[in-house]
Amino acid sequence: MRRVSIRLCALGTLCGALALAGSAVASLAADATPADLVDALNGVFGKHAGDRAAHTKGICLTGQFTPSADAPKLSKAPHLAKPVPIIARFSLGGGNPEAPDNAQDNVRGLAVKFDLGSGASTDIVTISAPMFFVKTPELFVEFLKTVATGDQDKIKAFFGAHPESTLLNAWLTSHLVPASYAGVDYFGVHAFTFTNAAGEAQVIKYKLIPEAGELGLTPDEAKAKGPDFYAGELKDRLAKGPVAFDLTAILGKQGDPTNDPTQRWSDEDNRPTVPLGKISIEAIAPDATCNAFSFLPGNVVDGIAGPTDDPVFAARSPAYAVSLIRRLQSAK
Ligand code: HEM
Repeated sequence: MRRVSIRLCALGTLCGALALAGSAVASLAADATPADLVDALNGVFGKHAGDRAAHTKGICLTGQFTPSADAPKLSKAPHLAKPVPIIARFSLGGGNPEAPDNAQDNVRGLAVKFDLGSGASTDIVTISAPMFFVKTPELFVEFLKTVATGDQDKIKAFFGAHPESTLLNAWLTSHLVPASYAGVDYFGVHAFTFTNAAGEAQVIKYKLIPEAGELGLTPDEAKAKGPDFYAGELKDRLAKGPVAFDLTAILGKQGDPTNDPTQRWSDEDNRPTVPLGKISIEAIAPDATCNAFSFLPGNVVDGIAGPTDDPVFAARSPAYAVSLIRRLQSAK
């Protein structure tokens, strides 16, 4: 045990995560603890030694982020002022290490850690849909426990009682299966507040737009691809050059809700956006590089603040810390 703690605290991110876990446990009013959230994931997907409790199947990457000229006008965050190295990870939603790449009803994930130097970092953790499926951590647990029963009537009843929980699946099933991790829009879902050097604040949501455009597969094409084509597709694509995304900020306005990740802002697709910079993914990295830490949605930096009234946002980083501790302890 002692050996593990020393190993864990050698990783700055984890020590930060542990501090986050402590603070948010108190603020969650203890209805769904970080361990409850991870246990609920394990209840559906099983425990997989050394692996993430969610977004288990994925590919670790390295690259660069180059900010736009407009980015510092919105936020004084250091990575929005000068180019920085990044570690990134593409993933599939859920805790199944063998999740099929060709499923339509699953999110793709893109997490990015911006290296700010001297051991400091900031992260964004996004999915291929602009909303999440529950508005509170308690409902996250309730939903997964319902799924774990396998009782279709109970699952139907959950959706009947929580119609907002159908929005994510409706989004996914109205979009084609992404033909590539590099060919789909990713969204930050939560509302963040940017503050610039003059102290001016602006609420934003992240959207990452692929330079390759949206690349979709028809149901027949997806079926023909089989369950494991993303890794090979990405390897071939990277052999020809970097995979790039435009990181953009969708601008919020007075009165936009920031407390419910199941809801989009009114007319969100037609809001003004500001380009923040280019994420350039250059190479596939060993899994061990990404497995040594967590990408934490709450790992923000001066100039960027997470929503203070969004209970899902508050619950995420502490749950990620629990998942990290467990996977490091159980790693073969
Ligand atoms: C109560 C809500 C949520 C819970 C309990 C939860 C839980 C988790 C856990 C336990 C992990 C694995 C962390 C690790 O071992 O490092 C994870 C990973 C991830 N989550 Fe969540 N999550 C939630 C909401 C969200 C939302 C709203 C998004 C997107 C906006 C998201 C996107 C991701 C992504 C992309 C990863 C993979 C990160 C990586 O590649 O390491 N999650 N989540």
